[in-house]
Amino acid sequence: NLVHEWSGLSELEKQLEKNFKLNRVIIVPGDSEKESQAKSLIGQEAAKQLEQLSKERDTVAVTGGSTIAAITNHLSVHIKPKNLVFVAARGGIGENVELQANHIASAFAAQASGTSRTLYLPDHLSETAYKTMIKEPVIKEMMDLYDHTNIVIHGIGDAKEMAKRRNSSLEELDIISEKQAVGEAFGYYFNEQGKAVHRIRTVGIQLKQLNQVKHLLAVAGGASKASAMLSYLKHAPHQTVLITDEGAAKKLTQLM
Ligand code: BG6
Repeated sequence: NLVHEWSGLSELEKQLEKNFKLNRVIIVPGDSEKESQAKSLIGQEAAKQLEQLSKERDTVAVTGGSTIAAITNHLSVHIKPKNLVFVAARGGIGENVELQANHIASAFAAQASGTSRTLYLPDHLSETAYKTMIKEPVIKEMMDLYDHTNIVIHGIGDAKEMAKRRNSSLEELDIISEKQAVGEAFGYYFNEQGKAVHRIRTVGIQLKQLNQVKHLLAVAGGASKASAMLSYLKHAPHQTVLITDEGAAKKLTQLM
């Protein structure tokens, strides 16, 4: 719209699309870290994108996070009933329930008149537990669902913030700082070069599966998240639609 044009946001969107070779970038005014209105706008744009990109009975994998949670209230208005299946992209329990992927998948299903598949597992599995777990039929079924996921909606977090929020062990915190992780998305930690340097040992969607997914919606905002976003966006799949805010977008262009 015109306001968007005048404020230069359209130009900024094109600049980011080109730089990161993304399908599309949508920038809402403001900074979601400082104004809850901006976070809600990101949520609204994400809901609209989901309506545009989804088809009848699509499987939609969602991660956790407060930005993703901000999409919930906009779904009933924007999504036409089409039997979407929402699945938790990761098994992680460990954060505040409201911010967990499982909770969000159920909430999305309720608001969009769809169904959900959840995966309640601890966030940090021991190696032995993990190896045993992935042999379980229900878990295998979930991993198969990831293979057939049409859309992924995910947040992007600051590596250290996320590790803290997840009550990560000292060992994990050490790995994160040793490997100089900057950003985090769906349980993977990325360094400044955009390389995945660490992954939380839990059942969830894998990086290589993301490339086969038709549409990805990345939602993240706030100027302080810019370096984290940059680390993820460097190698983000090209089918990604990034929905962010002015604060993060302006800071990103300074860092690029
Ligand atoms: C987590 C997701 O729950 O939320 C992460 O698993 C994401 O992938 C993070 O990075 C972002 O959270 P927020 O609250 O900053 O949107």
